[in-house]
Amino acid sequence: MKKGFVFDLDGVITDTAKLHYVAWKDLAAMLGIEIDLAFNEQLKGVGRMDSLEKILAYGGKKDDLSLAQKETLAEEKNNHYVELLQDLAPKDLLPGFKEFLDSAKAHHIPCAVASASKNAPFILKKLEVFTEFDAIVDPATLAKGKPDPEIFIRAAQAIHIAPEEAVGFEDAQAGIEGIKACGMFAVGVETTEPLHQADLRVKQLNELSVEELLQK
Ligand code: G6P
Ligand code: MG
Repeated sequence: MKKGFVFDLDGVITDTAKLHYVAWKDLAAMLGIEIDLAFNEQLKGVGRMDSLEKILAYGGKKDDLSLAQKETLAEEKNNHYVELLQDLAPKDLLPGFKEFLDSAKAHHIPCAVASASKNAPFILKKLEVFTEFDAIVDPATLAKGKPDPEIFIRAAQAIHIAPEEAVGFEDAQAGIEGIKACGMFAVGVETTEPLHQADLRVKQLNELSVEELLQK
């Protein structure tokens, strides 16, 4: 019997992956690096600085820049990304998410957000669901990013349950690995690539019922 839900944000609650992609693509182009959608898959669930490192390595420019230069670039990307977020609204919640969350609330099931995004509180406010969550893990306080399970363990702690008592929802392979590494039940929200190791795979959350998941 499960007692709580832990949600990733990008790709599970809303589709901001395409906005991250636009912002990274422009920044990479400025550096003379061309990235495509297939490469972008590798950035899902990966934190800001690690994403930049992956892009630089992909373009063969890993050792060309100082830490200060990298921090400036990451900030530039984020400023562009935040501009792109300005029009985000409840209509941008992924199909079935709000109904699923409402049903969880009706069952008194605590819900947490485990996202690597430092913009998560801002995005959740834009989507008008910020106050619906019982906890939002601050990624700035973590020692390791996904696929390390730390963020999921912290999310379970924040809603006062053991990881084994939680269901985690993820659209990124790194996230599914983190969920499984701490013994949570993993729901993979698949868009393009198949998610290995997921206990259950769906395209959208409207394929699931809260009652069914609590029995897992
Ligand atoms: C999520 C996204 C990643 C993004 C990361 C950090 O995990 O899937 O693409 O790089 O958050 O987001 P931030 O908003 O802090 O740059
Ligand atoms: Mg995601």
